[in-house]
Amino acid sequence: MKKITKAVFPVAGLGTRFLPATKASPKEMLPVVDKPLIQYAVEEAIAAGMTELIFITGRNKRSIEDHFDKAYELETELENKNKQKLLETVQGIIPPSVSCIFIRQTEALGLGHAVLCARPVVGDAPFAVILADDLIEGAPGAMEQMVKLFDETHTSVLGVETVAPEETGSYGIVKVAPDARGHQQVEHIVEKPRPEVAPSNLAVVGRYILTPRIFDKLVNTTAGAGGEIQLTDGIAALMKDEAVLALPFKGVRYDCGSKLGYLKATVNYGLQHHEVGAEFAAYLQSLARN
Ligand code: G1P
Repeated sequence: MKKITKAVFPVAGLGTRFLPATKASPKEMLPVVDKPLIQYAVEEAIAAGMTELIFITGRNKRSIEDHFDKAYELETELENKNKQKLLETVQGIIPPSVSCIFIRQTEALGLGHAVLCARPVVGDAPFAVILADDLIEGAPGAMEQMVKLFDETHTSVLGVETVAPEETGSYGIVKVAPDARGHQQVEHIVEKPRPEVAPSNLAVVGRYILTPRIFDKLVNTTAGAGGEIQLTDGIAALMKDEAVLALPFKGVRYDCGSKLGYLKATVNYGLQHHEVGAEFAAYLQSLARN
């Protein structure tokens, strides 16, 4: 079985929850302290051994391509001004061994459709999917933990987390049972069920490792929840042919698709930041005292 070297980043979504900030710029470019969300996602993939990054983009997303491209003018300027550290930061965003591929999803037909757009590049290999608005802090990263499980089992793996029972309507929800080796095997998966009908409160949170057979399933997946072609429905079809595992990874997830989650991430990453962390902590303490 092949190693996982390809990661798919669906970034064509409109980001309506962050309007007006996302009117003309992608939600994936929102910064948490000094790095855009998409860069955290890319770093997690690279740390997990991925070398081909496939972005499924759409209109208004050009700044994502620019972010991962060489910036001649900026680099020359930083060099001329002797700003070596910043130059290294800018040049180190993508290591030379990693390549970026951009595919345009011309119609926003859903996450399942976005993943299907990656088929010509992914081909017949297992691959990862990372949703950048789920920012996950962890060492090792969530994707690295999932790759380890994939390497042992050669089975699709979904990153999962327990959510509040009233939040099931925002997620793909799984029901799991331990398999013979003690791994959590997915028995049932459903997209955004209301709490009254949800099979559990274990949610898929924006991290997937999938075998290429998912593409055959997605081709035949019709519009589901919200009128969109759902990845969750493709996975439900895949489970009829193959086992799918769930991994409750170690780490803290921030739902940066929501304002509150984004603010929490900003505070926590701000507190840990090498430049501003200490002063920021003092500032927060002063607020708490008032
Ligand atoms: C998507 C998926 C959903 C998953 C969620 C994780 O939903 O469709 O199954 O649980 O991401 O963030 P979205 O948040 O795009 O509505």
